[in-house]
Amino acid sequence: MSSSPAKPQPDLLTVSGLGFRVGGVEILRDVTLRVREGSLLGIIGPNGAGKTTFLNLVSGVLLPTSGRLEVDHHDVTKASPATRAKLGVGRSFQTSSLFNALSVFENARLSAQVRFGGNSRAWQRPRASDPASLAAMDALETVGLRTVATSIAGTLSHGEKRKLELAILLAAEARLLLLDEPMAGVNSDDVPQLSALIARLHHEGRTVLMVEHHMSVVVGLADRIAVFDSGRLLAVGEPDEVIANEAVQSAYLGQPL
Ligand SMILES: Nc1ncnc2c1ncn2[C@@H]1O[C@H](COP(=O)(O)OP(=O)(O)O)[C@@H](O)[C@H]1O
Ligand SMILES: [Mg+2]
Repeated sequence: MSSSPAKPQPDLLTVSGLGFRVGGVEILRDVTLRVREGSLLGIIGPNGAGKTTFLNLVSGVLLPTSGRLEVDHHDVTKASPATRAKLGVGRSFQTSSLFNALSVFENARLSAQVRFGGNSRAWQRPRASDPASLAAMDALETVGLRTVATSIAGTLSHGEKRKLELAILLAAEARLLLLDEPMAGVNSDDVPQLSALIARLHHEGRTVLMVEHHMSVVVGLADRIAVFDSGRLLAVGEPDEVIANEAVQSAYLGQPL
């Protein structure tokens, strides 16, 4: 994306003066940021900086106390997560949110079902040829889990669970993927494969916001990096310039960057 000479993509996400305050405590303040369609924004910052809160505000899990959010030029500042999902916003959580007692396939299918009309048949035994089942299998194929489709989700390895979470977003046809530490708890041997998968989803045209502690992963995948510190957006820019930024260096003093 960043090296492409093609005309710039429109913004998919526009964040202006976003703030979140609870009980007099300012958790996030005055965050202004634009994310172009098809780009991958890495989000870094020390623990407690407000990264997860930011994703919660974008997905609609939390509503901001100030500022404005637009997805594809629709004002979603006060919109529900369901309304945002219809615009293509999909998120994964820092801790896994799978239905552990259901099969891998059923997890993906329930997600696809939302898109093919949220009717009461979600729990009916699926036919292999219904659109939601096909979309679910497609998503599992993309992330490399088709061969374990009938396994119970709870029995998957951490790495596989992370892949299933991505499949769930794909099955829902998310085009703005909000990933909160997608490598958390994953065996280091699985990190390269998971990064390659995220890179592929990005290169297929999806827009990604990814909170991630593994700096090598962020620098390798991101077009741009946003650095949060103490509830503020400290810096945003291309990876090289952000890493060289003095304010960023000092926010990370004593921590590996
Ligand atoms: N709903 C909430 N109520 C009170 N405090 C919160 C709430 N959500 C987050 N916080 C606090 O806000 C700060 C930012 O949290 P978080 O967004 O989880 O940071 P990060 O993901 O960067 O580690 C932390 O100090 C956390 O304890
Ligand atoms: Mg967090």
